[in-house]
Amino acid sequence: MIDQADALRSLVRDKSHLDLPRRTRAYAVAITSGKGGVGKTSLAVNLALTLASTKGRVRLVDADYGLSNAEVLLGVNPDHTLEDVVCGRIDAADAWVDCPGGLRLISSGSGLDSMTNIDGVASAELMASALDSAENGDIIVIDTAPGIDDSVISILSMADEVLVVTTPEPTSITDCYATIKVLTQAKPDCRISLVTNNCSSPSQAGSVARGLDAICIRFLGRSFQRYEYVPTDPSVGRAILTRRPFALHAAHTPAASWLKRLAIKIVERERQWQASRRAESLLEA
Ligand SMILES: Nc1ncnc2c1ncn2[C@@H]1O[C@H](COP(=O)(O)OP(=O)(O)OP(=O)(O)O)[C@@H](O)[C@H]1O
Ligand SMILES: [Mg+2]
Repeated sequence: MIDQADALRSLVRDKSHLDLPRRTRAYAVAITSGKGGVGKTSLAVNLALTLASTKGRVRLVDADYGLSNAEVLLGVNPDHTLEDVVCGRIDAADAWVDCPGGLRLISSGSGLDSMTNIDGVASAELMASALDSAENGDIIVIDTAPGIDDSVISILSMADEVLVVTTPEPTSITDCYATIKVLTQAKPDCRISLVTNNCSSPSQAGSVARGLDAICIRFLGRSFQRYEYVPTDPSVGRAILTRRPFALHAAHTPAASWLKRLAIKIVERERQWQASRRAESLLEA
């Protein structure tokens, strides 16, 4: 019995998979949420397309294992998925598919048995292979499943910044706090931005952010430095129904305009990140 408890404790303590080294210099932005259905995939797909039109060389990893929706929103039908990588049929480098807007996507497939019950270690290894198959200078947007499972947290730990999405609803805010709590325990220096989606006004987003920030400072001793706003916009739902992303086909709608502002900030953060990586490698040389 004691042996079993010791083994369990060491399993909990062993977080080495959260620190898997990255071999390529691509900037990874993960999009996550505690609660499901808050708009992660819509934001991930359309942010990735907006980034692609701002900067070029953008990839999207759909890491909602076995419940991939990004291809539905993009109107593509991938021949290969991360399931082929898990089963050893192909390398991750061969799983990327070309999408509209110059975006490249790796899907994780839909309803595939081998993509369910992926644990934290397997998830980290799979994500490492996807990230390493990108090229230096790429931006990689990662859409995740909702929740605080090990498989999600290990993906978030590998990202260079995490956008945690909530809506103004108290249940969503509660689950958002849970995500921030678990993530900061796993990776204390994680760079987190709050995105309040489906908002009626910037002031509503501001009040959600201030409330959540106060709770994070009080109970976690840290603040998330940035917060973003995406308004409620019927073009988001229309884009899903027609499989025509609003970033490409309704680029002047309110949600698209706010995503452009977010994309510009991410491109600037990526530029700074690349500059500091270059400086580090010069020092190491
Ligand atoms: N800003 C918005 N305005 C209006 N509707 C929105 C907005 N954002 C998301 N939605 C709607 O919310 C629903 C869920 O969106 P989406 O599938 O992107 O969420 P999700 O967080 O990825 O869900 P899951 O957790 O199941 O993966 C969709 O019907 C979408 O149209
Ligand atoms: Mg989704």
